[in-house]
Amino acid sequence: MAFAITQTCCTDASCVAACPVNCIHPTPDEPDFGTTDMLYVDPRTCIDCGACADACPVDAVHPVDALTGALADYAAINAEHFADRPTSRAEGTGPVFHAWDPPRFDRAVPADFPALDVAVVGTGPAGMYAVQDLLLHTDARVTLIDRLPVPGGLVRFGVAPDHPATKRIGETFARHHAHHRLRLRLGVQVGRDVTVDELAVAHDAVIYAVGASEARELGVPGADLPGSLAATTVVGWYNGHPEIAADAVDVSGSRVVVVGTGNVALDVARILTADPADLEDTPIDRGALERLRGGAVREVVVLGRRGPEAAAYTRPELHALLHRHGVELVVDDADPRTGREIDGAGEHAALLRGVRRETVDWSAPPGDGPKRLVLRFHSTPVAVSGPDRVRGVRVTGPDGEVEIPAGLLVRAVGHRGTPLPGLPFDAATGTVPNAGGRVDGIPGSYVVGWIKRGSSGGIGANRACAAETVGALLDDAVAGRLPSRPRRRGPLGFRRGRRAHGSPA
Ligand SMILES: Cc1cc2nc3c(=O)[nH]c(=O)nc-3n(C[C@H](O)[C@H](O)[C@H](O)COP(=O)(O)OP(=O)(O)OC[C@H]3O[C@@H](n4cnc5c(N)ncnc54)[C@H](O)[C@@H]3O)c2cc1C
Ligand SMILES: NC(=O)c1ccc[n+]([C@@H]2O[C@H](COP(=O)([O-])OP(=O)(O)OC[C@H]3O[C@@H](n4cnc5c(N)ncnc54)[C@H](OP(=O)(O)O)[C@@H]3O)[C@@H](O)[C@H]2O)c1
Repeated sequence: MAFAITQTCCTDASCVAACPVNCIHPTPDEPDFGTTDMLYVDPRTCIDCGACADACPVDAVHPVDALTGALADYAAINAEHFADRPTSRAEGTGPVFHAWDPPRFDRAVPADFPALDVAVVGTGPAGMYAVQDLLLHTDARVTLIDRLPVPGGLVRFGVAPDHPATKRIGETFARHHAHHRLRLRLGVQVGRDVTVDELAVAHDAVIYAVGASEARELGVPGADLPGSLAATTVVGWYNGHPEIAADAVDVSGSRVVVVGTGNVALDVARILTADPADLEDTPIDRGALERLRGGAVREVVVLGRRGPEAAAYTRPELHALLHRHGVELVVDDADPRTGREIDGAGEHAALLRGVRRETVDWSAPPGDGPKRLVLRFHSTPVAVSGPDRVRGVRVTGPDGEVEIPAGLLVRAVGHRGTPLPGLPFDAATGTVPNAGGRVDGIPGSYVVGWIKRGSSGGIGANRACAAETVGALLDDAVAGRLPSRPRRRGPLGFRRGRRAHGSPA
């Protein structure tokens, strides 16, 4: 028996640090770290100690013989990763203890260095990995701020409710909220309740972890008709985001079109086609669940402008769609290229090989059979049909221009950051210009997460990102590059917001 990593892998490499025999790859110092969809356990090296399972913050690691249902394939998926790689342990010898050194916590801060006051803006994964690094490895006092009344960022309001193991990482982060050197201020929006300058004056350094909250535009006529929603709205709706109304999403039509093939598109398609009874025991917003119960969605069409080879979803998320009860996965085969790509080589498209292909007749409404999730590739939306509200989407494809009738259009084409008054902003990338986390031209200000790198990468990608930013901050502190600040007269006040329960003054 060995252990295997499964669907919810967040790639934050907590397991790598815990493994005593270096059997989990890629490790953070291997070239493909950050490029694979997940990490893998080498079954030839695994000694079944379970240290990785204990360390995993998202419950993704399990003994192979405990894997059932859709997860059973992960024994082979882990093993396949190592098929043409040498074992990391020579046959017949004992385990090689850590080829990859455990993380080094000897931050270059002299023992007598005065404790820093650091503000971290944003309680999503990037902010929380930065907070964790500061609290566990330095003496810093941290003021943690979020504009929302509930912490967690996209772990709370983005991650789909049917991914409870992933949401569990929020509990790991939340343990730090009660740390004696942290004060948590919720409902405080930087730019409204406190300015960038005020934060800078009151702290030695400020780390901005404000994410990328704005939806990218689709940029076709009709994209702003009623019934055309950004995925951020739909995701916020089913996750109970305090700023999204309970009736924001109309699920009374039988067909929904989702534009984009990223994991967010698959999340939305999965939730809208799920049997509401299967969502009952999840943290889904109760109002959204009631509406889904009374809804009429029979079919969700996911549109990719390129082929299956170039789809943006990760393999585990597509894999999860292959094994659903009561929801059929179909590939629209109108484009001969789609078939060739699926039949040809390419790990990404290969998963679709066994999936039913059909040349869908879009003039007919979805049938009464099982619900369907249809993947249609090589299809670029050119217009949203109205006139008063969304009635369909016109797409160009190999079969010319096709009208796909639909009552709801979801634009899942990615995200971008928004400018924060007082910080520089690159409108082209939707990020704050920075060098390794140091904000350009503003000493003492740092960025981390999606506002630093752009809106890509799962939760775990923010861990290494935070280590880089915190490392830059500490280097600057030790080198005397942080701006000196005037002596403070007392703790910084905020115009709104509240101190979180249990947080020190
Ligand atoms: C819909 C969706 C689902 C996802 N699901 C998964 C998944 O299942 N698994 C996975 O590994 N990854 C998932 N991801 C990716 C993951 O969520 C991101 O990698 C991660 O959240 C980025 O972290 P962040 O801290 O940069 O941003 P965020 O998580 O967005 O956090 C930003 C925080 O800053 C706060 N903020 C913003 N502006 C201000 C301001 N002016 N003042 C004060 N506070 C402010 C926000 O309220 C928010 O709490 C998902 C992403 C999306 C969009
Ligand atoms: N379970 C998970 O682990 C999970 C869940 C959700 C999100 N995430 C992560 O969060 C990040 C963001 O995900 P995301 O889905 O929002 O974004 P994404 O991965 O960047 O995908 C965006 C999709 O939109 C398409 N697109 C962009 N502009 C378009 C246009 N004008 N017309 C048509 N299609 C267009 C892209 O196609 P092109 O490729 O052709 O540009 C791509 O398919 C990703 O790293 C994702 O993996 C992870």
